[in-house]
This record gives sequence, C-alpha cells and structure tokens, in this order.
Amino acid sequence: MIIAVDGPAASGKGTLTRKLAEHFNLARLDTGMIYRAVGLKALEIGDPADENVAVEAARSLAFDDLDQAGLRDEAAGKAASQVAAIPAVRDILLKFQRNFATNPPNNKNGPVNGAVLDGRDIGTVVCPDAPYKLFISASSEVRAERRYKELQERGEEAIRSAILRDIIDRDERDRSRTVAPLEPATDAEIIDTSDMDADAVFAAALNFISSQS
Ligand code: CDP
Repeated sequence: MIIAVDGPAASGKGTLTRKLAEHFNLARLDTGMIYRAVGLKALEIGDPADENVAVEAARSLAFDDLDQAGLRDEAAGKAASQVAAIPAVRDILLKFQRNFATNPPNNKNGPVNGAVLDGRDIGTVVCPDAPYKLFISASSEVRAERRYKELQERGEEAIRSAILRDIIDRDERDRSRTVAPLEPATDAEIIDTSDMDADAVFAAALNFISSQS
C-alpha cells in the first residue's frame, strides 16, 4: 500500500500522515524534512539559492541530518524551498524517496504494510503510480493560524503577520518553479481543510481510501 499526500505549507499533512501510518501500519516519510535538512546544510555552506552550494549540500545529506534541531524553523523552510527549486537537487533526492516507498523500513511494530509519504510532488513525481493520492489544502490565513499555534505550543516566539507572509512566499515559490511544482495529481482527491479539524480530515481521507479499495 502506498499513500501519497501533497499540499501547501502548514496544511496539516504531518498530522494526517501520522494518523494514516498508525491506522494502516505504514512507514512514514515527511519528505519536507529532507529538503529542510538540505536547506540548513546549504545555509552553512553559503547561499541556498546557488546551485553549486545546494547540490553539494544534497550530496552530503546523511540520515542523522533528518532529526536535528532547527529543522522546523521557518528559516529552514525558506532555505528548503530555495534548494527545492533546483532540478539537480531534486534528482539527487528522488532515489532515496522512491526507495523508501518501494522498500519501506520496519517501524516500531516490525514489518509494515507499505508507506505513506508527504510533500509537494509525491503524487505527481515521486510515486505517480500510488493507488491513493490526497491533496490537502486550506486558505493561507487558516494555515498561518495553525502554524502560529504550533509555534506557540512549542514555546517559540511567533508573529502572525510574518508567518502569513512566509507561507505565501513559500507557496508562490513552490507553485511557480519549473521542476515538480506544487500541484495536485490529476487523480488526487482534493480535501479543503479550511473548516475541518484533524479528526474530520482523517475521516475524509479514510473515506476516500475505502472508496478506492
Ligand atoms: O511543513 P511545511 O508544510 O511548512 O513544509 P515542508 O513539507 O516541511 O516542506 C518545506 C519545503 O520543502 C517546501 O516549501 C518545498 O519547497 C520543499 N519540498 C518540496 O519541494 N518537495 C517535497 N516533496 C517536500 C518539500
């Protein structure tokens, strides 16, 4: 079983895929973390928008980089969307993601039934043959409010208007890039979550998956 979940920044992909992974016993990969780790590494070397810098960062990515502090910060998110617009970077990262989808690692319960991946191009590029594709969206204001609350819960300083601007900028960069732009696959189920809580989104996703089986 492979479930592909795509959508813009802070649309709730992480919450949904955690629930799906638990429900169906799947390995879960948040592909944004890979781009964030490359973005942070690129920031250490130089300008993340510079192809040579970004490619060097992507080549040197190691598993341990995926759980370092600072990955969730908006600075990492911005650097992620800069390196993510560079085709050579996406090429380097594609193999890892496809391998995860087809040979998912065991989770804490042992062998899994498949994989759930979330990102921007899972249904369109990474796993175009996935049997279940979801595209999760919400208005930018709702998404900014969710990210604001998430930061507050983590005890971090946050300014609403700055978060909204960052989200709008990042979506624009993700949608307008020439390689693997953020867009729903033609066969994806689109769920607008603006007026839904996490349980309602999960129920809608389960409903779609069972309608396809
Ligand atoms: O958590 P949030 O939705 O804010 O972002 P994320 O999923 O962690 O992704 C960070 C950035 O990585 C995005 O803005 C994209 O530019 C890039 N990304 C991508 O290009 N392709 C993916 N499959 C995943 C992330």
